[in-house]
Amino acid sequence: MNLTNKRHSLQAIRANILHCKSNPDDQPRNSHPEQALEYIEDGVLIVENGLVQACGYSATQAIPDSAVVHDFRGKLLVPGFVDTHVHFPQVDVIAAYGTQLLDWLERYTFPAEAQFSNEQHAAAVARFFLDELLKNGTTTALVFGTVHPESVNAFFTEASMRDLRMICGKVMMDRNAPVDILDTAQSSYVDTQTLIETWHGKQRLAYAVTPRFAPTSSEAQLTLAGQLLKEHPDVYLHTHMAENADECDWVASLFPGQQDYLAVYEHFELVRKRSVFAHCIHLSDNAWTRMANADCSVAHCPCSNLFIGSGLFDLRAAQKHKVRVGLGSDIGGGDSFSILRNINEAYKIQQLQRHTLTPEQAFYMATLGGARALDLNDRIGNFDKGKEADFLIVDEAATPVLKRRTQAQSTWRDRLFSLMMLGDDRCIERTFIMGEPVVYSTDT
Ligand code: GUN
Ligand code: ZN
Repeated sequence: MNLTNKRHSLQAIRANILHCKSNPDDQPRNSHPEQALEYIEDGVLIVENGLVQACGYSATQAIPDSAVVHDFRGKLLVPGFVDTHVHFPQVDVIAAYGTQLLDWLERYTFPAEAQFSNEQHAAAVARFFLDELLKNGTTTALVFGTVHPESVNAFFTEASMRDLRMICGKVMMDRNAPVDILDTAQSSYVDTQTLIETWHGKQRLAYAVTPRFAPTSSEAQLTLAGQLLKEHPDVYLHTHMAENADECDWVASLFPGQQDYLAVYEHFELVRKRSVFAHCIHLSDNAWTRMANADCSVAHCPCSNLFIGSGLFDLRAAQKHKVRVGLGSDIGGGDSFSILRNINEAYKIQQLQRHTLTPEQAFYMATLGGARALDLNDRIGNFDKGKEADFLIVDEAATPVLKRRTQAQSTWRDRLFSLMMLGDDRCIERTFIMGEPVVYSTDT
């Protein structure tokens, strides 16, 4: 089945357009953070062969006669959201009751992941997962598979049929987990090599070397992960770090020679640009400095951090050190696919620490900032000419409460904040990939 529609060469989409031009935190002092965003009331986005051709006010932007026009006037048009950390095989453990990270892994997650040796199961879950992501407005994600190469083959096969920009990797895990979901250092190296050769750079897909986290990899396996990065410098590194206090104590006991959690990954040469570390809650100022120097990225996972009780992310530290941060749903530790719901919780996490997440910063993390965290900002994240046209039509009045709240507000900034606090998948009216409306594979 090919889920990609026949592509029309020229499209014009009319709506109110909002996108980021730069990082709101980089705005000069005394200027306004909203200047990092561009809001075009009654705008038009012109897409040619799947790429942004122009973006402007409909009063001044010529629409070519041959363009197919989509009229969404009154609705909001934004770039597709970027989810910088999510596990596709954990769809069936969302909202599992009563545990924190290490028990949660043992009781719910490892048994669910064991089923992914079956490629048919993996394909069915990948289909459901991608439908759900797209219905929630997420068009690009950095995704964990399971230890089984079949899981990654199934995921990339589904993503390629939909022409999605996705990054995924096979979990490397050779200790401290049930034997049916362990690999070996050598088999993980060989399987990863094969998957990189098969998928990395094919269509819009990219590969991430994916050791689960330090406690489930031997030193031999982490050494080979570092070797894979040297052999393939443009692949990603994707793992977890400093999520939960018991996990941090465990890492300290497993690697007594290392000064801290980050030092374990540094020792195996896993910390560099295109390395993405999920969570990063329990980090010292010194570790933040080293992360900034290495130019790696962080996936902040608000719903997960609250749901499995991991802790409060220190956004202020990340901002101070200018470390790139994206948002992650972390399904199934997280309980929502929706990046809007994750922004809602991110705001509250900062409130509890007497720090304010601005609507501009949140919107940036969800779009251009997420793209920057994945080193994809030359391809996606906003509507600069030549970018891939993955975008959303958002209904700011999708629920009675939202309608009431947004109609009372006159500025786009106030409406954006209401959308972020009150919105979810109900607000995502349409999702477009490379300029074409998404066709879903199931009736989920
Ligand atoms: N740390 C190691 N594995 C996992 C996982 O599957 N989910 C989360 N949230 N943290 C992890
Ligand atoms: Zn995770």
